[in-house]
Parts: sequence; structure tokens; C-alpha cells
Amino acid sequence: MADISSIDAVQQMLAEQGYVCGRPLATVVFLSLKLGRPLFLEGEAGVGKTEIAKALAASMGRRLIRLQCYEGLDASSAVYEWNFAAQMVAIRTAEATGSADRKALNAELFSEEFLIERPLLQALRPDVNGPPILLIDELDRTDAPFEAFLLEALSDFQITIPEMGTIKAPEPPIVILTSNRTREVHDALKRRCLYHWVDYPDFDREMDILQARAPEASEALSREVVAFVQRLRTEDLFKKPGVAETIDWAKCLLALDVLTLSPEVIADTLGAVLKYQDDIAKLQGSEAKRILDEARASLDA
Ligand SMILES: Nc1ncnc2c1ncn2[C@@H]1O[C@H](COP(=O)(O)OP(=O)(O)OP(=O)(O)O)[C@@H](O)[C@H]1O
Ligand SMILES: [Mg+2]
Repeated sequence: MADISSIDAVQQMLAEQGYVCGRPLATVVFLSLKLGRPLFLEGEAGVGKTEIAKALAASMGRRLIRLQCYEGLDASSAVYEWNFAAQMVAIRTAEATGSADRKALNAELFSEEFLIERPLLQALRPDVNGPPILLIDELDRTDAPFEAFLLEALSDFQITIPEMGTIKAPEPPIVILTSNRTREVHDALKRRCLYHWVDYPDFDREMDILQARAPEASEALSREVVAFVQRLRTEDLFKKPGVAETIDWAKCLLALDVLTLSPEVIADTLGAVLKYQDDIAKLQGSEAKRILDEARASLDA
């Protein structure tokens, strides 16, 4: 049984899954579990927002149900839809065998047998391991109408299917929402949640994360990689590297048997860290060397 009785216990539980978080984040996670409030995580790309839901599900032994948001996401993809094809087959079969008692057929067609459950409905279903974790990922990609719909679903954890009635969660799921803040999410939704801005980690924490995720990397190489990425984030870039990029880069360097950074190695492997040509172009010539020198200086300091 996972121990979620204190902030320290939650921090420890996540650490055991290789998820490194500071006290402020551990505190909102603890509170969200304790008070049963949805947790709304905002932050740049690749800073560990999605990962926390995975780590939480793994450590608590709960089922993880993920609703990936996108433009145009609607209720039929998020909640449920009827299996039209199977319903058609059932109608044809009933017609062919002449057993078409209209009323009975109608009831049968709109029963669970023909219901396709999507993440929001799945999350309301009881689970032997306890309420699932519902991850509503990248909410900023949907539109306002869907947000309003979500607000309602999250306020009473029940969904009404006209043909079947209302389905209510015996115990509400643990809800985690994430956003990259490409647009502002509505206040009404935020008000329902506990909020936390997931920032880039500082040097020490990023070292801990790298140690947890790429333990094969030597201390010396890890320090250089983290210092370089930290320094890179202060540059004027279109897309700053996230923690995911730090980990990827370290793994690439390991695969190339690199022991220490050099401007040449950086130039050859920059695609693991920066994903936009304009940003990569900025590091051509002497720029990579300048940043590497500054990173090394910060390590010596
Ligand atoms: N605090 C952390 N502890 C351990 N690993 C982390 C941490 N933060 C990030 N990572 C690593 O970085 C990767 C990317 O994290 P994640 O996918 O959660 O980012 P995200 O914030 O959801 O990004 P996006 O906005 O692009 O979806 C994870 O697979 C994980 O390996
Ligand atoms: Mg994510």
C-alpha cells in the first residue's frame, strides 16, 4: 500500500519511481490526494508534467487513464459513443431472423454491449485497485466549449447517457490536468483545481533527475551536460530544451562513448537538444564554444 500520509512520504514514493520533485510540487500532490481535488499542472514542454501522472499511477498501483486533448476533441471521443456498426449488424440480424420485437431490440441496441467507453467514462468506473488516475493531457489544445463540458464532468463526476441514464463514480478518480499554456485555460476550471507551475529544475535537481533516468552517465559528463543545458536555457531561443532533452542528450553521448563535451561533439549531437533549425543555427560557429566555456566556468565556481 502506497504511503501518502505526508508530503515527505509522497516525495519519497515518487522518487522510488524515478520521479524527482521538489517540496512545492510534492506539497500540491499531497494536498490534491488528501482533499480529492484535481491537480492542474502548467509549464514548458518536457518538464515532467505528464510523467508525474504516470509515476503516481505506478506507485499507487492505480490504473492510468489518459485523455489526450487536441483541437476538435468532442464528447464522442472523450466520453462515449455508440458502436453504430455493431448496432447495424444487430438490426440486420433481427430483421433476417424475423425476431424483431421493436421495443426489446431498441433496449438492446442502447445497452452496455454497444457502448464504446472513452476515457472520461472509463474513469468513473470502479476499479479493484481503487479509483483510477485520470490524466487530461495538454488541455490548452482543446477549445472553450470542451472546457465548459469538462468543468461539468469534473464537478460531480457523473455522466448522463440519454438512452441509459446517469453513471456516477462510486469514488471520484484522481484527476491531473496539464497545459503548455499555449493559451490561458478558463478561470472557472482553474478554480476547481490546485495549481502548480512546473518550472525547469535547478542544477542540483536536474542532476538528480539525470542520475535517476540515465544512471549509466558518469558524474563528470552529467555535470557538463546539465550545466550546458542550464546555460542554454538562458539564451534567446525559440524553444528551450526541457528535461526530456537533457536525458536524451546524455543517452546520445553515452551511445557515442563521449567522455567529455567539446564544440565538435556539441555540433554533431545538437539535434537531441534543440529541435528548431533557427535555434540550431544560432549555435553555429563560436557560439557553442562560448556557452560551453560559460557552463564550465559555472561548474568551477
Ligand atoms: N522531475 C522529473 N523526474 C524524473 N524524470 C523527469 C522529470 N521531469 C522530466 N522527466 C523526464 O522527462 C521526460 C519528459 O517529461 P514529460 O513527458 O512528463 O514532460 P511534459 O512536461 O509532459 O512535456 P510536454 O509539455 O511536452 O508534454 C519524461 O519521460 C521523464 O523521463
Ligand atoms: Mg506532456
